[in-house]
Amino acid sequence: QKQGYEHFMLKEIHEAAEVVKNTTRGRMIAKEGRVKLGGLEVVLDQIKSLDRLVIVGCGSAYFAGQVGRYMLEEYAGIPVEVELGSEYRYKNNLQTGKTAVLAITQSGETADTLASLRKAKEAGLLTLGIVNTVGSTIARETDAGVHNHAGPEIAVASTKAVISQLTVLVLLTVLIGRENGKLDQKEAAAILEGLEKLPTVIEQYLSDVSDIESVSKKYISYQNAMFIGRKFHAPIADEGALKLKECTYINSQAYAGGELKHGSIALLDKNFPVIAIAPQDDVYEKMVSNIEEAKARSAPTLIITTKADDTIKEIADDVLYVPKVHPILQPIITNI
Ligand code: F6R
Repeated sequence: QKQGYEHFMLKEIHEAAEVVKNTTRGRMIAKEGRVKLGGLEVVLDQIKSLDRLVIVGCGSAYFAGQVGRYMLEEYAGIPVEVELGSEYRYKNNLQTGKTAVLAITQSGETADTLASLRKAKEAGLLTLGIVNTVGSTIARETDAGVHNHAGPEIAVASTKAVISQLTVLVLLTVLIGRENGKLDQKEAAAILEGLEKLPTVIEQYLSDVSDIESVSKKYISYQNAMFIGRKFHAPIADEGALKLKECTYINSQAYAGGELKHGSIALLDKNFPVIAIAPQDDVYEKMVSNIEEAKARSAPTLIITTKADDTIKEIADDVLYVPKVHPILQPIITNI
């Protein structure tokens, strides 16, 4: 049932808070910085001593994996590569050290992700999954894994499943970081306490989206959009661009902020707006420079940021403020 929403995608976006609750339920003791993922218990020793994790996925699941790379490398100190299922399955994947392959998939049936998983298995690698659909082929074929518990996703364009994938990746980061000793207990507790509060933060945020509605009306007539972001928010820019083109047929592209000037900036003009995902973090100033570059090309600029200061209004045409949370959780908010 659409429960009063105009369509399933909107309903599923509004389920984000519930999804975070369901994905984390019974899986963490926040104040102790402890995570327990039952599905990974049997392989915990192997995960602890991994040299490398290869994440495989397609589309939005691939972008969630890219965010996961930033999470895991920053907080769990483990080298991560992220591969497209449609590439991994056909290429020569060189093995070094102890590697596990982690498939991320909502449906658990995506052909390229499944073929990549089977290839990894044939190579003798440990295979793991973050899978939403219980009983799906990928859920059955991985050695171990985590179910998202996001519930069925009816809309074709993935929204709540991505939120749950990012949430599982936070849990996985804390689990691996604590197990391999690279994440101290205080930081782990700070992350998990933030995660515990996240559903309330999301609920409050989604209770009034009138600013998003009015900005959308202003931007509706453009035929192009350029999404930019850095670090955790670079893949969120990719995800934004994918969602926009998939649901509106508007040409949209995404670049890591610093990459814009290496050619693609040539596209920008008064008809090519830039949507910058720039929460107040350690790369905020860098993002501000990128927005200034876009302005110099007369591109309309819409910035998604966290701090309600007025200086940002001087450089951006439009601002959407989102709540500020722990940096590892911030992409969950900007993704919404
Ligand atoms: C985009 C979207 C797709 C899926 C992709 C992978 O909105 O929904 O890009 O993310 O097809 O699907 P799963 O996660 O089922 O493997």
